[in-house]
Amino acid sequence: TIQACLFDLDGVIVDTAKYHYIAWKELANELGFDFTETDNERLKGVSRMASLDILLEIGGLTFDDEKKQQLATRKNDRYVEYITRMQADEVLPGAKDFLTELRAAGIQTALGSASKNAPTILERVGLTPYFDAIIDGNSTSKAKPDPEVFLKGAEALGVKPANCVVFEDAEAGVEAALAGGMKCVGIGSPLVLAKANLVVDGLHQMNVALLRKSFSQTT
Ligand code: BG6
Ligand code: MG
Repeated sequence: TIQACLFDLDGVIVDTAKYHYIAWKELANELGFDFTETDNERLKGVSRMASLDILLEIGGLTFDDEKKQQLATRKNDRYVEYITRMQADEVLPGAKDFLTELRAAGIQTALGSASKNAPTILERVGLTPYFDAIIDGNSTSKAKPDPEVFLKGAEALGVKPANCVVFEDAEAGVEAALAGGMKCVGIGSPLVLAKANLVVDGLHQMNVALLRKSFSQTT
């Protein structure tokens, strides 16, 4: 049986992927190159510094560590400007209803995000109380596709990985869930998220009945 659901934040619960994209694109443009939405797929679920490395690779640029820290800080300052203005209506459709339904059904919930800004975002949109555990970029050292973030979430809830379902919009996140021995529902394109056990457009398509039906073979 499914005892816990673990959620990625950016692109699953809130549409912050667009703010990450805008902030990275602005940085790329300042450095003299363009950065497209297709390029941006490679950054989803990836930590801040690893994202910068990918961005610089796309631009064909190399910098020393000190300069890279400055660039990452510049991007994050911009990103924080966007997220501190977020409102409760920026929670993606269905997310709050599904979290509410899960808890009513006795299924625990945890956040499993690579973002160091996760607590700020949850506070801004009023979702902090909907999670039994919050694991984010401040409490992990290994980035997705390493399963660390989800394993820590399962551990915090006292649930075995096999009884957990992860919701993810990033390929690296789907890989992390599966590497941790969990089930995974992809949120987004079935092409990008082909490895997930099930792919839906968004949490508005999820409910406890569908969850149980899809993963009933789990013990
Ligand atoms: C992930 C996003 O959730 O968090 C990535 O998908 C982002 O795009 C990563 O780079 C780190 O976020 P932050 O807020 O710590 O820079
Ligand atoms: Mg994401």
